[in-house]
Amino acid sequence: MASPVIDFLLARKSQPIQELKEPGPDSEQIATLIRIAARVPDHGRLSPWRFIVYRGKARSEIGEMLAKRAVEREGPLPEARIEQERTRFSRAPVVIGVVHSPVENPKIPTWEMFLSGGAAAMNLLTAASAMGFGANWITNWYAEDEEGRRIVGLAPHERVIGFVHIGTHVGPGFERPRPDPEKLVSEYSGPWQG
Ligand SMILES: Cc1cc2nc3c(=O)[nH]c(=O)nc-3n(C[C@H](O)[C@H](O)[C@H](O)COP(=O)(O)O)c2cc1C
Repeated sequence: MASPVIDFLLARKSQPIQELKEPGPDSEQIATLIRIAARVPDHGRLSPWRFIVYRGKARSEIGEMLAKRAVEREGPLPEARIEQERTRFSRAPVVIGVVHSPVENPKIPTWEMFLSGGAAAMNLLTAASAMGFGANWITNWYAEDEEGRRIVGLAPHERVIGFVHIGTHVGPGFERPRPDPEKLVSEYSGPWQG
């Protein structure tokens, strides 16, 4: 059965961040992307995630703070590395952070909230591609560093699900090898025997 949506999903892929150029999504397009990102399965309807938009000069301000933090953590660093940290958020025109923001709930485990957040990030990535942009979901060291998370705007109880970098794709792109689905699937044949 021919379907443009199926064809799109079969070919969807990320684009290298260094190939994501201006223009990025405008405010209206970002609002649509967030609506789609929030339209995900969410056990208990807790909305245990939120989104942070990084654009304009905020991106280089964050870069300065990340560069300083990298030196604090690792000691003096070569200029090339400092520059890498400074530009972490300014390679693509827009970055949208997907934040795991857990909610107290007696029934729903936190890991399910995390999975819902992963679905939100995937929807965001897919929707950005469907809008004609290139996009890429990364985390990076500052997602694993308490002060790094504070710099990018997270509260202490929150965690990074991903930073989705979005822009107009200019460049050759890259297709990574894909797993063979046949090696990943089996018909159920009874309880695990060890
Ligand atoms: C949770 C998560 C975190 C990731 N973090 C990074 C990262 O920090 N750096 C990186 O180069 N790629 C990272 N990746 C991988 C990129 O998204 C990569 O471009 C992706 O695997 C491409 O797959 P696709 O073409 O199917 O979209 C991460 C992926 C996921 C799901």
